[in-house]
Amino acid sequence: MSIIAPGSTIGILGGGQLGRMTAMAARSMGYGVHVLDPDAQCAASAVADRVVAAKFDDADAAADLARHCDVVTLEIEQIGTSALEAAARHAPVRPGASVLGVVQDRERQKVWLATNGFPIGDYRHATTRDELRAAVETFGSTFMKACHGGYDGRSQVKLSSAADVDAAWESMGGRHSVAERALDLEAELSIMVARRPSGDVCVFPPALNHHERQILAWSVIPAGLPKRVVRQADEIGRGIAEAFALEGILAVEMFLLRDGTLLVNELAPRPHNSFHETEVVCATSQFEQLVRAVCDLPLGDARALRPGAIYNLFGDLWLAGTPHFELALAHRGVRLHLYGKRGARAGRKMGHLSATGESSEDALQRVRAAAAAIGADRSLVS
Ligand SMILES: Nc1ncnc2c1ncn2[C@@H]1O[C@H](COP(=O)(O)OP(=O)(O)OP(=O)(O)O)[C@@H](O)[C@H]1O
Ligand SMILES: [Mg+2]
Repeated sequence: MSIIAPGSTIGILGGGQLGRMTAMAARSMGYGVHVLDPDAQCAASAVADRVVAAKFDDADAAADLARHCDVVTLEIEQIGTSALEAAARHAPVRPGASVLGVVQDRERQKVWLATNGFPIGDYRHATTRDELRAAVETFGSTFMKACHGGYDGRSQVKLSSAADVDAAWESMGGRHSVAERALDLEAELSIMVARRPSGDVCVFPPALNHHERQILAWSVIPAGLPKRVVRQADEIGRGIAEAFALEGILAVEMFLLRDGTLLVNELAPRPHNSFHETEVVCATSQFEQLVRAVCDLPLGDARALRPGAIYNLFGDLWLAGTPHFELALAHRGVRLHLYGKRGARAGRKMGHLSATGESSEDALQRVRAAAAAIGADRSLVS
Protein backbone atom coordinates (compact mmCIF):
# COMPACT_ATOMS: atom_id res chain seq x y z
CA MET A 1 0.00 0.00 0.00
CA SER A 2 1.15 3.53 -0.81
CA ILE A 3 -1.04 5.86 1.20
CA ILE A 4 -0.88 9.56 0.39
CA ALA A 5 -1.59 10.90 3.86
CA PRO A 6 -3.64 13.96 4.81
CA GLY A 7 -1.33 16.96 4.79
CA SER A 8 -0.03 16.00 1.32
CA THR A 9 -0.97 17.96 -1.80
CA ILE A 10 -3.46 16.89 -4.49
CA GLY A 11 -3.28 18.32 -8.01
CA ILE A 12 -6.47 18.61 -10.04
CA LEU A 13 -6.51 18.96 -13.83
CA GLY A 14 -9.52 21.21 -14.36
CA GLY A 15 -10.89 23.90 -12.06
CA GLY A 16 -14.62 23.89 -12.84
CA GLN A 17 -17.35 23.06 -10.33
CA LEU A 18 -16.29 19.42 -10.08
CA GLY A 19 -12.73 20.49 -9.26
CA ARG A 20 -14.01 23.04 -6.77
CA MET A 21 -16.17 20.55 -4.87
CA THR A 22 -13.34 17.98 -4.91
CA ALA A 23 -10.97 20.65 -3.58
CA MET A 24 -13.40 21.47 -0.77
CA ALA A 25 -13.56 17.80 0.26
CA ALA A 26 -9.77 17.53 0.06
CA ARG A 27 -9.30 20.62 2.21
CA SER A 28 -11.74 19.27 4.80
CA MET A 29 -9.44 16.28 5.12
CA GLY A 30 -6.34 18.47 5.49
CA TYR A 31 -4.88 18.19 1.99
CA GLY A 32 -3.36 21.03 0.02
CA VAL A 33 -4.87 21.56 -3.44
CA HIS A 34 -3.26 22.81 -6.67
CA VAL A 35 -5.35 23.25 -9.82
CA LEU A 36 -4.60 23.56 -13.53
CA ASP A 37 -7.18 25.43 -15.59
CA PRO A 38 -7.10 27.81 -18.57
CA ASP A 39 -8.88 30.42 -16.40
CA ALA A 40 -6.84 31.72 -13.44
CA GLN A 41 -10.14 32.69 -11.78
CA CYS A 42 -11.87 29.35 -12.35
CA ALA A 43 -14.49 28.04 -9.92
CA ALA A 44 -11.89 26.04 -7.96
CA SER A 45 -9.48 28.97 -7.61
CA ALA A 46 -11.24 30.22 -4.47
CA VAL A 47 -10.35 27.00 -2.62
CA ALA A 48 -6.99 26.18 -4.21
CA ASP A 49 -3.54 26.99 -2.81
CA ARG A 50 -2.21 27.44 -6.33
CA VAL A 51 -3.69 27.77 -9.82
CA VAL A 52 -1.55 26.98 -12.87
CA ALA A 53 -3.28 28.91 -15.67
CA ALA A 54 -2.73 26.85 -18.81
CA LYS A 55 -4.51 24.89 -21.49
CA PHE A 56 -5.33 21.22 -20.96
CA ASP A 57 -2.81 20.15 -23.61
CA ASP A 58 0.11 22.15 -22.13
CA ALA A 59 2.62 19.45 -21.13
CA ASP A 60 5.04 21.88 -19.44
CA ALA A 61 2.26 23.29 -17.28
CA ALA A 62 1.00 19.81 -16.36
CA ALA A 63 4.56 18.86 -15.33
CA ASP A 64 4.81 22.08 -13.32
CA LEU A 65 1.56 21.22 -11.51
CA ALA A 66 2.59 17.64 -10.80
CA ARG A 67 6.08 18.57 -9.58
CA HIS A 68 4.54 20.26 -6.53
CA CYS A 69 1.90 17.56 -5.88
CA ASP A 70 1.89 14.08 -4.33
CA VAL A 71 -0.89 12.81 -6.62
CA VAL A 72 -2.76 14.26 -9.59
CA THR A 73 -6.41 13.65 -10.47
CA LEU A 74 -8.81 15.34 -12.90
CA GLU A 75 -12.32 16.70 -13.25
CA ILE A 76 -12.43 16.70 -17.05
CA GLU A 77 -11.46 13.89 -19.41
CA GLN A 78 -10.28 16.06 -22.32
CA ILE A 79 -6.67 16.35 -21.15
CA GLY A 80 -3.99 15.97 -23.84
CA THR A 81 -2.08 12.67 -23.77
CA SER A 82 1.30 14.43 -23.67
CA ALA A 83 0.14 16.55 -20.71
CA LEU A 84 -0.93 13.38 -18.85
CA GLU A 85 2.41 11.74 -19.59
CA ALA A 86 4.33 14.84 -18.52
CA ALA A 87 2.43 14.98 -15.21
CA ALA A 88 2.92 11.24 -14.64
CA ARG A 89 6.71 11.69 -14.66
CA HIS A 90 6.41 13.68 -11.41
CA ALA A 91 3.42 12.19 -9.54
CA PRO A 92 0.92 9.37 -10.01
CA VAL A 93 -1.99 10.47 -12.23
CA ARG A 94 -5.22 8.80 -11.12
CA PRO A 95 -7.13 7.77 -13.15
CA GLY A 96 -4.33 7.37 -15.66
CA ALA A 97 -3.80 7.57 -19.40
CA SER A 98 -4.99 3.99 -19.98
CA VAL A 99 -8.52 4.94 -18.83
CA LEU A 100 -8.56 8.43 -20.34
CA GLY A 101 -7.29 7.23 -23.71
CA VAL A 102 -10.36 4.99 -23.97
CA VAL A 103 -12.93 7.41 -22.58
CA GLN A 104 -11.81 10.51 -24.54
CA ASP A 105 -13.05 9.09 -27.81
CA ARG A 106 -16.71 8.01 -27.99
CA GLU A 107 -16.02 5.37 -30.62
CA ARG A 108 -13.02 3.88 -28.82
CA GLN A 109 -15.10 3.85 -25.63
CA LYS A 110 -17.88 1.88 -27.31
CA VAL A 111 -15.42 -0.61 -28.78
CA TRP A 112 -13.82 -1.05 -25.34
CA LEU A 113 -17.23 -1.60 -23.67
CA ALA A 114 -18.36 -4.12 -26.28
CA THR A 115 -15.01 -5.97 -26.29
CA ASN A 116 -15.12 -6.26 -22.51
CA GLY A 117 -18.65 -7.64 -22.58
CA PHE A 118 -20.63 -4.62 -21.37
CA PRO A 119 -24.03 -3.96 -22.99
CA ILE A 120 -24.35 -0.94 -25.32
CA GLY A 121 -26.93 0.21 -27.88
CA ASP A 122 -26.65 -0.13 -31.67
CA TYR A 123 -24.27 2.37 -33.23
CA ARG A 124 -22.05 2.98 -36.27
CA HIS A 125 -18.82 4.90 -36.61
CA ALA A 126 -19.66 7.78 -38.99
CA THR A 127 -16.53 9.25 -40.57
CA THR A 128 -18.23 10.29 -43.82
CA ARG A 129 -21.60 11.66 -44.86
CA ASP A 130 -22.39 8.34 -46.57
CA GLU A 131 -21.64 6.35 -43.43
CA LEU A 132 -23.99 8.65 -41.51
CA ARG A 133 -26.69 8.19 -44.16
CA ALA A 134 -26.32 4.40 -44.03
CA ALA A 135 -26.69 4.46 -40.24
CA VAL A 136 -29.83 6.62 -40.38
CA GLU A 137 -31.34 4.39 -43.08
CA THR A 138 -30.83 1.41 -40.75
CA PHE A 139 -31.80 3.01 -37.42
CA GLY A 140 -34.42 5.59 -38.38
CA SER A 141 -34.33 8.10 -35.54
CA THR A 142 -30.62 8.59 -34.72
CA PHE A 143 -28.34 10.57 -32.41
CA MET A 144 -25.17 11.81 -34.11
CA LYS A 145 -22.46 12.59 -31.55
CA ALA A 146 -18.94 13.91 -32.15
CA CYS A 147 -16.28 11.42 -31.04
CA HIS A 148 -14.39 14.18 -29.23
CA GLY A 149 -15.27 16.98 -26.89
CA GLY A 150 -19.04 16.90 -26.33
CA TYR A 151 -20.77 17.53 -23.00
CA ASP A 152 -24.18 18.65 -21.78
CA GLY A 153 -25.74 17.66 -25.09
CA ARG A 154 -23.28 19.85 -27.06
CA SER A 155 -21.67 18.42 -30.21
CA GLN A 156 -24.62 16.17 -30.86
CA VAL A 157 -27.69 16.34 -33.05
CA LYS A 158 -30.79 14.22 -33.45
CA LEU A 159 -31.88 13.06 -36.91
CA SER A 160 -35.36 11.77 -37.72
CA SER A 161 -34.67 10.46 -41.21
CA ALA A 162 -32.17 10.44 -44.09
CA ALA A 163 -33.56 13.85 -45.10
CA ASP A 164 -31.72 15.34 -42.08
CA VAL A 165 -28.31 13.94 -42.99
CA ASP A 166 -26.89 16.89 -44.95
CA ALA A 167 -27.90 19.52 -42.39
CA ALA A 168 -26.63 17.35 -39.51
CA TRP A 169 -23.32 16.66 -41.23
CA GLU A 170 -22.79 20.39 -41.90
CA SER A 171 -23.80 21.45 -38.40
CA MET A 172 -21.17 19.11 -36.93
CA GLY A 173 -18.54 20.38 -39.35
CA GLY A 174 -17.94 16.91 -40.74
CA ARG A 175 -16.30 15.73 -37.53
CA HIS A 176 -15.77 12.02 -36.88
CA SER A 177 -18.87 10.92 -35.01
CA VAL A 178 -20.84 7.98 -33.80
CA ALA A 179 -24.40 7.47 -35.00
CA GLU A 180 -26.54 5.83 -32.31
CA ARG A 181 -29.98 4.31 -32.68
CA ALA A 182 -32.42 6.53 -30.73
CA LEU A 183 -33.61 4.27 -27.94
CA ASP A 184 -37.01 3.99 -26.31
CA LEU A 185 -36.11 4.98 -22.74
CA GLU A 186 -38.05 3.91 -19.65
CA ALA A 187 -35.54 5.71 -17.40
CA GLU A 188 -31.98 7.04 -17.19
CA LEU A 189 -29.76 6.10 -14.31
CA SER A 190 -26.10 6.33 -13.36
CA ILE A 191 -23.71 4.41 -11.17
CA MET A 192 -20.66 5.82 -9.42
CA VAL A 193 -17.87 3.37 -8.63
CA ALA A 194 -14.65 3.97 -6.71
CA ARG A 195 -11.54 1.80 -6.77
CA ARG A 196 -8.31 2.42 -4.87
CA PRO A 197 -4.90 1.36 -6.20
CA SER A 198 -4.70 -1.49 -3.71
CA GLY A 199 -7.85 -2.94 -5.27
CA ASP A 200 -10.89 -2.29 -3.03
CA VAL A 201 -14.02 -1.35 -4.96
CA CYS A 202 -17.08 0.51 -3.67
CA VAL A 203 -20.26 1.36 -5.59
CA PHE A 204 -22.74 4.12 -4.72
CA PRO A 205 -26.46 3.36 -5.04
CA PRO A 206 -27.71 4.26 -8.54
CA ALA A 207 -29.11 7.74 -9.20
CA LEU A 208 -32.28 8.25 -11.24
CA ASN A 209 -31.73 11.08 -13.71
CA HIS A 210 -34.04 13.33 -15.65
CA HIS A 211 -32.77 15.23 -18.71
CA GLU A 212 -34.39 18.13 -20.50
CA ARG A 213 -33.16 18.91 -24.01
CA GLN A 214 -30.33 16.40 -23.44
CA ILE A 215 -29.07 18.17 -20.29
CA LEU A 216 -29.43 16.85 -16.75
CA ALA A 217 -32.22 18.73 -14.97
CA TRP A 218 -32.58 16.72 -11.76
CA SER A 219 -31.29 13.59 -10.09
CA VAL A 220 -32.42 11.56 -7.07
CA ILE A 221 -31.11 8.75 -4.81
CA PRO A 222 -32.45 6.15 -4.14
CA ALA A 223 -33.53 5.66 -7.72
CA GLY A 224 -36.61 3.58 -6.82
CA LEU A 225 -35.81 1.05 -9.57
CA PRO A 226 -36.53 -2.68 -9.46
CA LYS A 227 -33.97 -4.73 -7.46
CA ARG A 228 -32.93 -6.59 -10.61
CA VAL A 229 -31.96 -3.35 -12.33
CA VAL A 230 -30.05 -2.06 -9.28
CA ARG A 231 -28.12 -5.35 -9.00
CA GLN A 232 -27.29 -5.36 -12.70
CA ALA A 233 -26.19 -1.70 -12.65
CA ASP A 234 -23.98 -2.40 -9.64
CA GLU A 235 -22.38 -5.38 -11.40
CA ILE A 236 -21.70 -3.33 -14.54
CA GLY A 237 -20.11 -0.51 -12.51
CA ARG A 238 -17.93 -2.92 -10.54
CA GLY A 239 -16.99 -4.81 -13.71
CA ILE A 240 -15.90 -1.66 -15.53
CA ALA A 241 -13.78 -0.47 -12.57
CA GLU A 242 -12.08 -3.84 -12.42
CA ALA A 243 -11.55 -4.18 -16.17
CA PHE A 244 -9.81 -0.78 -16.14
CA ALA A 245 -7.98 -1.45 -12.85
CA LEU A 246 -9.38 2.00 -12.09
CA GLU A 247 -7.59 4.30 -9.66
CA GLY A 248 -10.15 6.93 -8.70
CA ILE A 249 -13.87 7.20 -9.37
CA LEU A 250 -15.91 6.63 -12.51
CA ALA A 251 -19.54 7.33 -13.40
CA VAL A 252 -21.43 5.04 -15.75
CA GLU A 253 -24.46 6.66 -17.40
CA MET A 254 -27.07 4.01 -18.26
CA PHE A 255 -30.29 3.67 -20.21
CA LEU A 256 -33.12 1.43 -19.03
CA LEU A 257 -35.23 0.54 -22.06
CA ARG A 258 -38.98 -0.05 -21.97
CA ASP A 259 -38.40 -3.78 -22.54
CA GLY A 260 -36.25 -3.92 -19.36
CA THR A 261 -32.84 -4.01 -21.07
CA LEU A 262 -30.09 -2.09 -19.30
CA LEU A 263 -27.42 -0.47 -21.53
CA VAL A 264 -24.34 1.66 -20.90
CA ASN A 265 -24.62 5.14 -22.44
CA GLU A 266 -21.22 6.60 -21.58
CA LEU A 267 -18.42 6.72 -19.01
CA ALA A 268 -16.99 9.64 -17.02
CA PRO A 269 -13.86 8.85 -14.92
CA ARG A 270 -14.41 11.77 -12.50
CA PRO A 271 -17.13 13.26 -10.27
CA HIS A 272 -20.49 13.42 -12.03
CA ASN A 273 -23.38 15.88 -11.87
CA SER A 274 -25.85 13.10 -11.06
CA PHE A 275 -23.98 12.30 -7.81
CA HIS A 276 -23.93 15.80 -6.33
CA GLU A 277 -26.71 14.65 -4.00
CA THR A 278 -24.27 12.22 -2.36
CA GLU A 279 -23.21 15.28 -0.31
CA VAL A 280 -26.57 15.22 1.48
CA VAL A 281 -27.56 11.56 0.99
CA CYS A 282 -24.58 9.30 1.62
CA ALA A 283 -22.18 8.81 4.50
CA THR A 284 -19.39 9.75 2.06
CA SER A 285 -19.79 12.20 -0.84
CA GLN A 286 -18.48 11.39 -4.32
CA PHE A 287 -15.87 14.13 -3.80
CA GLU A 288 -14.51 12.69 -0.56
CA GLN A 289 -14.58 9.24 -2.16
CA LEU A 290 -12.41 10.54 -5.00
CA VAL A 291 -9.90 11.94 -2.51
CA ARG A 292 -9.82 8.65 -0.61
CA ALA A 293 -9.49 6.59 -3.79
CA VAL A 294 -6.62 8.55 -5.35
CA CYS A 295 -4.79 8.71 -2.00
CA ASP A 296 -5.23 4.94 -1.55
CA LEU A 297 -7.09 5.46 1.73
CA PRO A 298 -9.88 3.12 2.88
CA LEU A 299 -12.98 3.92 0.78
CA GLY A 300 -15.87 5.54 2.62
CA ASP A 301 -19.31 4.10 3.30
CA ALA A 302 -21.34 4.87 0.15
CA ARG A 303 -24.74 3.77 1.46
CA ALA A 304 -27.66 6.18 1.27
CA LEU A 305 -28.55 7.32 4.79
CA ARG A 306 -31.65 9.18 3.62
CA PRO A 307 -33.31 10.09 0.32
CA GLY A 308 -32.14 13.23 -1.46
CA ALA A 309 -32.29 15.04 -4.79
CA ILE A 310 -30.61 17.86 -6.71
CA TYR A 311 -31.92 20.35 -9.25
CA ASN A 312 -29.48 22.13 -11.60
CA LEU A 313 -29.38 25.92 -11.84
CA PHE A 314 -28.36 27.29 -15.26
CA GLY A 315 -27.13 30.75 -16.24
CA ASP A 316 -30.50 31.57 -17.85
CA LEU A 317 -31.79 32.16 -14.34
CA TRP A 318 -29.43 35.12 -13.84
CA LEU A 319 -30.38 36.94 -17.02
CA ALA A 320 -33.01 39.01 -15.18
CA GLY A 321 -30.73 39.70 -12.19
CA THR A 322 -29.61 37.67 -9.18
CA PRO A 323 -32.23 35.04 -8.36
CA HIS A 324 -34.16 35.38 -5.07
CA PHE A 325 -32.46 32.43 -3.41
CA GLU A 326 -34.23 33.16 -0.12
CA LEU A 327 -37.43 31.91 -1.76
CA ALA A 328 -35.78 28.53 -2.36
CA LEU A 329 -34.08 28.38 1.03
CA ALA A 330 -37.42 28.88 2.78
CA HIS A 331 -38.30 25.31 1.73
CA ARG A 332 -37.55 22.74 4.43
CA GLY A 333 -34.58 20.48 3.75
CA VAL A 334 -33.34 22.59 0.83
CA ARG A 335 -29.72 23.74 0.48
CA LEU A 336 -28.04 26.03 -2.04
CA HIS A 337 -24.78 25.14 -3.80
CA LEU A 338 -23.25 27.84 -6.01
CA TYR A 339 -20.04 27.34 -7.94
CA GLY A 340 -18.74 30.92 -7.76
CA LYS A 341 -18.55 31.21 -11.54
CA ARG A 342 -18.12 34.65 -12.99
CA GLY A 343 -20.33 35.36 -15.97
CA ALA A 344 -23.73 33.66 -16.13
CA ARG A 345 -24.54 32.52 -19.65
CA ALA A 346 -27.59 30.66 -20.91
CA GLY A 347 -27.03 26.91 -20.48
CA ARG A 348 -24.00 27.33 -18.19
CA LYS A 349 -24.16 25.30 -14.98
CA MET A 350 -23.96 27.86 -12.16
CA GLY A 351 -25.05 25.78 -9.18
CA HIS A 352 -27.69 23.41 -7.89
CA LEU A 353 -30.26 23.06 -5.15
CA SER A 354 -30.33 19.94 -3.01
CA ALA A 355 -33.02 18.60 -0.73
CA THR A 356 -33.50 15.66 1.58
CA GLY A 357 -36.88 14.14 2.30
CA GLU A 358 -38.80 11.26 3.84
CA SER A 359 -38.79 9.44 0.50
CA SER A 360 -37.25 9.98 -2.92
CA GLU A 361 -40.55 11.42 -4.14
CA ASP A 362 -40.65 13.78 -1.17
CA ALA A 363 -37.03 14.96 -1.70
CA LEU A 364 -37.67 15.47 -5.40
CA GLN A 365 -40.92 17.31 -4.79
CA ARG A 366 -39.15 19.64 -2.31
CA VAL A 367 -36.23 20.45 -4.55
CA ARG A 368 -38.51 21.02 -7.53
CA ALA A 369 -40.81 23.28 -5.49
CA ALA A 370 -37.76 25.28 -4.34
CA ALA A 371 -36.50 25.49 -7.94
CA ALA A 372 -39.95 26.63 -9.10
CA ALA A 373 -39.98 29.33 -6.40
CA ILE A 374 -36.97 31.02 -8.05
CA GLY A 375 -38.20 30.36 -11.58
CA ALA A 376 -35.80 27.50 -12.33
CA ASP A 377 -38.31 24.67 -12.72
CA ARG A 378 -40.43 25.92 -15.60
CA SER A 379 -42.67 22.87 -15.58
CA LEU A 380 -43.97 23.91 -12.13
CA VAL A 381 -44.29 27.62 -12.85
CA SER A 382 -47.90 28.49 -13.57
N1 LIG B 1 -29.19 6.81 -28.25
C1 LIG B 1 -29.99 7.57 -27.49
N2 LIG B 1 -31.30 7.26 -27.37
C2 LIG B 1 -32.13 8.04 -26.60
N3 LIG B 1 -31.74 9.13 -25.92
C3 LIG B 1 -30.44 9.50 -26.00
C4 LIG B 1 -29.50 8.74 -26.79
N4 LIG B 1 -28.31 9.34 -26.69
C5 LIG B 1 -28.48 10.40 -25.89
N5 LIG B 1 -29.75 10.52 -25.48
C6 LIG B 1 -30.28 11.57 -24.58
O1 LIG B 1 -29.39 12.70 -24.56
C7 LIG B 1 -28.74 12.82 -23.28
C8 LIG B 1 -27.31 13.28 -23.45
O2 LIG B 1 -26.58 12.32 -24.20
P1 LIG B 1 -25.07 11.99 -23.88
O3 LIG B 1 -24.96 11.53 -22.47
O4 LIG B 1 -24.56 11.10 -24.92
O5 LIG B 1 -24.45 13.44 -24.12
P2 LIG B 1 -23.38 14.31 -23.38
O6 LIG B 1 -23.25 15.55 -24.16
O7 LIG B 1 -22.18 13.50 -23.11
O8 LIG B 1 -24.09 14.67 -22.06
P3 LIG B 1 -23.48 14.86 -20.60
O9 LIG B 1 -22.10 15.36 -20.74
O10 LIG B 1 -24.41 15.86 -20.00
O11 LIG B 1 -23.60 13.52 -19.97
C9 LIG B 1 -28.88 11.44 -22.65
O12 LIG B 1 -28.74 11.47 -21.26
C10 LIG B 1 -30.29 11.06 -23.13
O13 LIG B 1 -31.27 11.77 -22.41
MG1 LIG C 1 -24.18 12.00 -20.86
